[in-house]
Amino acid sequence: MRIGIYPGSFDPVTYGHLDIILRSAKMFDRLIIAVLKNNAKNPVFTVEERVELLKKVTKGIDHVTVESFDGLLADFAKQRNANTIVRGLRAVTDFEYELQIAQLNHKMNSDVDTIFLTTSLEYSYLSSSVVREIASYHGDISHFVPAEIIDAVQAKF
Ligand code: PNS
Repeated sequence: MRIGIYPGSFDPVTYGHLDIILRSAKMFDRLIIAVLKNNAKNPVFTVEERVELLKKVTKGIDHVTVESFDGLLADFAKQRNANTIVRGLRAVTDFEYELQIAQLNHKMNSDVDTIFLTTSLEYSYLSSSVVREIASYHGDISHFVPAEIIDAVQAKF
């Protein structure tokens, strides 16, 4: 059984994430979206909220599940018998950091490899932080996050 993990902060999930989820879900028998719990980035949304938002937007996508994790991703992958980590790359600047993390994760868990999907062009400018920034100024976020979570995102600001 091919089990993939798509990890991240998802603070909040965006159309860019959803694009990666839809494309990578086809590559595995099961795709686990793994939301980091204790995040040094001090997320705006609690881990429970981030999981809920992800569940809302992935409802109906076959064999995709959402859970939170704490600690090392390499360990979580081992616990879940996952051998592939999926990450999205928006630009070359993402790659330097991602390469190091991918190599570290493989060193810590030799059963796990990381694959990179290039973000679809229409989302290459998009990140959770720009969504938070626009929402904080009460701007229109409808181009950036799925309709079913707009209210929840706006309610935070
Ligand atoms: O959405 P993000 O913030 O870019 O996701 C980063 C994430 C959660 C994938 C990364 O920070 C992570 O895997 N953290 C867990 C701790 C860990 O395993 N770090 C890598 C080795 S230093």
